[in-house]
Amino acid sequence: MMAENSSSPNPVSDMEGHTSTLKRKYDEEDEDSCPRKLQLTEERHSQKVASHYNTLQECGLEERNKSRILHMRNFNNWLKSILIGEILEQVRQERRDVCVLDLGCGKGGDLLKWRKGHISRLVCADIAAVSVEQCQQRYNDMKRKCHPNERIFSAEFITADCTKELLSDKLKDAEMKFDVCSCQFVYHYSFESHEQADTMLRNACERLRPGGFFIGTTPDAYELVKRLELSDSNSFGNEVYSVTFQKKGEYPLFGCQYDFNLEGVVNVPEFLVYFPLFEEMAKKYNMRLVYKKTFYEFFQEKIKNEQNKLLMQRMSALEQYPADDRSKLASENPEEYEHAKGKSECADVRLPLGTLSKSEWEATSIYLVFVFEKMS
Ligand SMILES: C[S@@+](CC[C@H](N)C(=O)[O-])C[C@H]1O[C@@H](n2cnc3c(N)ncnc32)[C@H](O)[C@@H]1O
Repeated sequence: MMAENSSSPNPVSDMEGHTSTLKRKYDEEDEDSCPRKLQLTEERHSQKVASHYNTLQECGLEERNKSRILHMRNFNNWLKSILIGEILEQVRQERRDVCVLDLGCGKGGDLLKWRKGHISRLVCADIAAVSVEQCQQRYNDMKRKCHPNERIFSAEFITADCTKELLSDKLKDAEMKFDVCSCQFVYHYSFESHEQADTMLRNACERLRPGGFFIGTTPDAYELVKRLELSDSNSFGNEVYSVTFQKKGEYPLFGCQYDFNLEGVVNVPEFLVYFPLFEEMAKKYNMRLVYKKTFYEFFQEKIKNEQNKLLMQRMSALEQYPADDRSKLASENPEEYEHAKGKSECADVRLPLGTLSKSEWEATSIYLVFVFEKMS
């Protein structure tokens, strides 16, 4: 049985008279004291992660536009765009040639952001070989199609389990230094054991220049446990997502596994990332936490900026409420939009509004944004 959960308020933004938004082109075993068994379990998890992402189909634009969670995906993408854009801007104040490590790059969902940020060099790494191939293909296509005058960044692609293998051993240039490491929706896979979380951190931070940044997005352990404790079972969620823990009441620092299911697709096991521990572990690599916000806090902060707001409209990151003749709400259930209805009835509100359905918001508000800086 799924429980109602208490997430932060649903985002509602005025759309400043834009009645239409431009659609963007665009197994588990208990932890055991037997080291051999533990190692086997870890190997199985790694294989599962790789094969899960390798077999995920790349769906076309048309298919994606039909998704129940289209706006949530766009919202997440908007958030990453802002985070990446702001960090690159900061780095570029000090350096002209910017080198980036995209740790857990997937199929290259952030390539356009790197292009837009005018970086010089990109290293993409992921455990899933098929994803890395697709990422490389996407990069090659982008390069081929770009304007002859545009200088596209050079790129290198590495298939590796970044919780177990050192990227330094695989880089073409062993001396390479990065200005930014971006780890989007990935770091939680490493919290299976201390060793794995540490190796992932080492990969993220050891080749960062002083003043460089380690940025990312990851589920907020506090939010996950809060929702679990409010549930009357080991699960919670709604019509778009569900999270299932193996146990309630015991949350080990490493290997605290849960299954995340989004839009009916059973995902691979993830592990709770207890942020104060993450922050402490990062000190080993001379990293200082400079920014940490929940997605809601991040939204509230960034939406105040007109450029960010415009980008949100262009990326169709919030859906239009109420819908007009040309649009349709993601859910037909009015309860999904009670928050927006309430706001739309206020006297001083300009319509239409931009929002996310309640279920999508509950799914995305599990996450947080972090930025660490490398100290000299
Ligand atoms: C949710 S996807 C995010 C992809 C991309 N960062 C993005 O934001 O679009 C998680 C990615 O992490 C990768 N991943 C998971 N465990 C990993 C590991 N141990 N080493 C490297 N990549 C890993 C998966 O293969 C997958 O591509």
